[in-house]
Amino acid sequence: MTLRLTDTLILRPLVAEDFEAMAALMGDPDVTRYLYWGPRTREEARDPFEKRRACGIIAPGVTQLSLGIEESGRLIGEVALMHLDNPHRDGELGYMLVNGFGGRGIASCAAGAMLRIGFEQLKLHRIHARCDDRNIASWRVMEKIGLRREAHHLSNEWVKGEWTGALVYALLENEWEAASR
Ligand SMILES: CC(C)(COP(=O)(O)OP(=O)(O)OC[C@H]1O[C@@H](n2cnc3c(N)ncnc32)[C@H](O)[C@@H]1OP(=O)(O)O)[C@@H](O)C(=O)NCCC(=O)NCCS
Repeated sequence: MTLRLTDTLILRPLVAEDFEAMAALMGDPDVTRYLYWGPRTREEARDPFEKRRACGIIAPGVTQLSLGIEESGRLIGEVALMHLDNPHRDGELGYMLVNGFGGRGIASCAAGAMLRIGFEQLKLHRIHARCDDRNIASWRVMEKIGLRREAHHLSNEWVKGEWTGALVYALLENEWEAASR
């Protein structure tokens, strides 16, 4: 299953050959700067990679959907809908790109496609996303794809040795339908 987003950009399930690229991504301290985890060693990246690789199927009822972002044949990132094993039909959107590929709208394009998949194929009721409030590129993506800011928690979490704030964005299925009309 491959989803073509532009002439050069596709979303596709991860395959075993993607491990080195994904381990490098998870091991980059700049990429993981505002995440709860990381940077991961190559060994630490193995289990999360295998979990993502097992989650490339688009079907109602899946617990996670993880797709690779490929540009001109190179894996340059990932986008995911996570924590779908709840009774609320709520999913959390996440994305990350190889350093150097940011600022060209790639994440917004990939995340927008996942929003559509989440509502139209996975039949989710709500999709939310959250990020460290210093992660401007991340919350800009959330706004660009039409998520609505629900909360700004100030200094609410102790992450990587410091207090951090969190921004929470979301969209409901009825809002998606109204926006799509
Ligand atoms: C977050 C991330 C995926 C964004 O990818 P991207 O392809 O650069 O995103 P886009 O180009 O679609 O949009 C980013 C927007 O943020 C803006 N932006 C980025 N850094 C900014 C800054 N420091 N100040 C103001 N705006 C900024 C860009 O200009 C762009 O907005 P615009 O199109 O209106 O100009 C990428 O930075 C990344 O991989 N970060 C590391 C992993 C991560 O933090 N993931 C999110 C976890 S919640």
